[in-house]
Amino acid sequence: MAAADTLGRERRPPGFEQVIGQSVAIRQTIALAAKVALSDATVLLLGETGTGKELFARAMHASSTRADRSFVALNCSTFSKELMESEVFGHRAGAFTGAMRDKKGLIEEADGGSLFLDEIGEMQMGLQAKLLRVLETGEFFKVGSNVSDRTDVRIISATNRDLKEEVSQGRFREDLFYRLNVFTLQLPPLRERKGDILLIAEHFLGVFAEKLGKDITGMTQAFADVLCRQMWRGNIRELKNVIERAIILTEGKVLDVDSLPVQMQAESPQLQPLTLFDLASVEKMHIQRVLKYTDGNKVEAARLLNIGLTTVYRKIEEYGLQ
Ligand SMILES: Nc1ncnc2c1ncn2[C@@H]1O[C@H](COP(=O)(O)OP(=O)(O)O)[C@@H](O)[C@H]1O
Ligand SMILES: [Mg+2]
Repeated sequence: MAAADTLGRERRPPGFEQVIGQSVAIRQTIALAAKVALSDATVLLLGETGTGKELFARAMHASSTRADRSFVALNCSTFSKELMESEVFGHRAGAFTGAMRDKKGLIEEADGGSLFLDEIGEMQMGLQAKLLRVLETGEFFKVGSNVSDRTDVRIISATNRDLKEEVSQGRFREDLFYRLNVFTLQLPPLRERKGDILLIAEHFLGVFAEKLGKDITGMTQAFADVLCRQMWRGNIRELKNVIERAIILTEGKVLDVDSLPVQMQAESPQLQPLTLFDLASVEKMHIQRVLKYTDGNKVEAARLLNIGLTTVYRKIEEYGLQ
């Protein structure tokens, strides 16, 4: 394994410096990604939203022999079929209304480099066939052209869908699936590497404090506890946003729970409504619980509470219990 830095952290392979995390899961993923990055193999990145698929695609490009050429990213869900075809493959002048001159497609822009196809599961069937051709022969047709062009791109694609399921539903070409699936990398969700949460949070704390020119040096224990208890369905993207928001809202030197989104604050035992901190409410709740346990038997409740029976009656009246 790679050498460690002065903090005892494992040094990242070149290109992967921006990937934060020390969990076994992320280290194994980085090691695999770094290995396959050196080959020209087509890579399919799988993982929930925000797990770092694009970050890994860029890192793999940066550590590949194609690093000095372009990395071109395309989100397959953002264009209509027609626009997408001309966007990816380019077009000839006059191919359609408005096509005044020849236009290079992204696939040509990425020549010699890498083409990142994000949300590949959203790609239209017609385009899938054309992409398959590129993968098989390196050839493609510009829109409106009957002469093929050639390109040399490394394709890295990503999806948060179950592509196999898409294939069995007839929405994704099986042959393309196998072409894209030469090497699959599954990115672990944040909740399966909880040890990385605070590391990543501290990293973004530094990044945003500097960016926003704020002298914020850390977070309270309560803040850290809330972060560690979250499910993080939006994974690292969500965590990053939460930290940025907290930095914006914080006036002091440390991040505290009041800078978290309200629904997260609610999960912090430290910030329950204040009534829960006053002794009378706690006493009331406790007596109520004991009475429930004894099925309303006051003698039994007095014994368990270690107070006199008359006190029990008084408290019941005082708090309006039962
Ligand atoms: N391990 C990580 N360390 C630091 N930042 C990360 C990590 N993984 C993801 N990010 C950041 O989180 C955000 C979402 O990552 P992205 O690659 O766009 O996720 P995906 O494409 O899977 O939805 C980006 O800003 C990215 O830089
Ligand atoms: Mg993405």
